[in-house]
Amino acid sequence: MISKNQRMITNQRILQTIFKMRNIKSNKRIFDSAKIRMFGNTLNLPSLPVPTLNQTIEKYLKSVTPFLNESELINTKTILKEFSSPNGIGNNLQDLLIQKANSSENWLAEWWLKTAYLEYREPVVIFSSPGLVFPLEDFSIEDERVVYTAKLIMAALDYKFTIDNDQLPLDKMGKDPLDMNQYKKIFGTCRVPKKNVDEIEFNSESRHIIVVRNNNFFSIEVIKENMKRCSFKDILGMLHSVLNESTNLGDPVGILTTENRNNWSRAYDELIKDPLNRDSVAKIQKSLFLVALDNPMPDSNDSRRSLASKQCIHGGGSMANSANRWFDKTVQFVIGQDGIVGLTYEHSPSEGQPIASMTDYLINYIKHIDTNNNMSDTKFDGTLEKLEFKVSDTLKSYIIEANENIDRLVKNLDMDCFQFTSFGKEFVKTQKLSPDSFIQIAMQYAFYRIHMTPGAHYESAATRKYIHGRTETIRSCSIESIAFAKAMLDSKKTIADKVVALKEAIESHKKYAMEAVNGFGVDRHLLGLKLIAQENGIELPRIFTDPSFKRSSHMRISTSQVATRCDGFMCYAPLTADGYGCCYNPRPFDINFGVSAFVAHADTSATKFRLALEESLGDMHDILAKSQKAKL
Ligand code: COA
Repeated sequence: MISKNQRMITNQRILQTIFKMRNIKSNKRIFDSAKIRMFGNTLNLPSLPVPTLNQTIEKYLKSVTPFLNESELINTKTILKEFSSPNGIGNNLQDLLIQKANSSENWLAEWWLKTAYLEYREPVVIFSSPGLVFPLEDFSIEDERVVYTAKLIMAALDYKFTIDNDQLPLDKMGKDPLDMNQYKKIFGTCRVPKKNVDEIEFNSESRHIIVVRNNNFFSIEVIKENMKRCSFKDILGMLHSVLNESTNLGDPVGILTTENRNNWSRAYDELIKDPLNRDSVAKIQKSLFLVALDNPMPDSNDSRRSLASKQCIHGGGSMANSANRWFDKTVQFVIGQDGIVGLTYEHSPSEGQPIASMTDYLINYIKHIDTNNNMSDTKFDGTLEKLEFKVSDTLKSYIIEANENIDRLVKNLDMDCFQFTSFGKEFVKTQKLSPDSFIQIAMQYAFYRIHMTPGAHYESAATRKYIHGRTETIRSCSIESIAFAKAMLDSKKTIADKVVALKEAIESHKKYAMEAVNGFGVDRHLLGLKLIAQENGIELPRIFTDPSFKRSSHMRISTSQVATRCDGFMCYAPLTADGYGCCYNPRPFDINFGVSAFVAHADTSATKFRLALEESLGDMHDILAKSQKAKL
């Protein structure tokens, strides 16, 4: 156990090293004692454990079995035995990892932020930043959109004050309190592109927001020096000024943020050479959040939900809204002309669930805000400033390249988002089964019935029971999930056989999920062993080059539960070129799904997966209902 004092020191070190403060001067206040309390472990949460080598090896072997033939399995067993034998390299690495864990609050936090996010060079758009679609609105006139936007800004400011005043209700998993640090990083945060490794800036004490329309960026002061927020009427007035001053298209500087991170970092260095641009960029980066007033999306055959998912994920391309963004900002609210509303968020500082909890707060606030009370005539001398950019010829060529690249990515993303209305999690609970595991097994069955081969399947499990905890992987593809899918497709199996197979698959998933939320999955531990080997100049052990590792971590189904009470849903692209993304929101009587696939891959289609998933959920419901009837 480490002492409280050591924890404080580690906190400061984590802040200094993990987040690599770019501008220590402007962020100096982060090191005030109040902020240490914010980021620190006020709940006395435990540190992330390191599983034993045998625990991980045993679980890993089981999880890779569906992907191997008999001889491959024998070979993998030999490699694992050698790795974990008393004199094997695995034990050396384990000792080194335990040493690291003993001297830090969370042995994974710094590594994870770097390897999963800041070192990742693909664009954040599509490859990393999810969209979150709010309950859809219908704006028939521009005024309705402006009023909604003003309410949303009021709601977001109210939420920020609630976070700052430590008034958010504590999130819990069962009886366990969860780490609340991610909430503190929602507002005022921005990623900054750098060659090879990006950085993150925190400016939660900023007092302005950015509104962008027709690619024109405006900085609006929404909080006065005395911390008084501007009124609904002030915001409304300023939004009207934005509309008046943004009728022409601005230079599409925002499109640069859709680029591959190394391309963007080169363009960024060119952009900020000019002091005018540098000031404008700094205002955007330091803002609390960004609000994008979008133009209509290009015509398509997409359903409204699917269109909304695309608008939130990428904005529709260079001719639509993709330049009407600054994708490095943690939170960008998206307000379409016709009533498509939602947000996109840059993933590195936070997981989806805190963003989803914020969404419920905002939607509730918007529903209940009494704007008459907020129409008081109190004078507010907030300022609105149009941000100017000078675009050099070199920047113009970067913009042309970025336009081409984002348009290619946009064309390649296939989305099918829908609400499954036949039942929700209440039905599954009546069957005494875990709703989350039920949905995961339905996805396994859906994949199998399309492709007739096991699909490696990632589900995020929150490890926020631990200080600075983020996620562990639940490997949802199991011996039992494949046995169930095969049983369902086997005409010789009885309903009773199928129900037994279903329950075994669900139980096996639930067991893995419980272990993962407690920090005992296999993926983060193996990552730790790999990274500690690299740090110590130790040759990569064979376990990481064995086909079992490659196949079981080529996640063809990338999923997470992101729950909101409101009728919203999160959505994102697949993790692999031949895979699916499937984010879901299980509500009591329905389930919202955001399904994605890449157009370029001939074997996959979002709609094919959606249809297979709907059928799978229906089939699973029916066998349970029939077996119950048979018992009566
Ligand atoms: N019989 C009856 N009810 C059951 C049951 C059973 N056998 N098993 C579970 N339930 C109930 C639970 O008690 C719970 O009830 P509640 O709605 O009253 O709270 C409900 O069903 C849901 O439980 P379950 O579906 O098993 O799982 P979960 O909601 O706890 O979710 C995880 C499991 C893994 C998704 C969750 O722990 C988690 O980690 N979420 C975060 C995921 C994440 O990080 N997403 C963002 C990625 S960007």
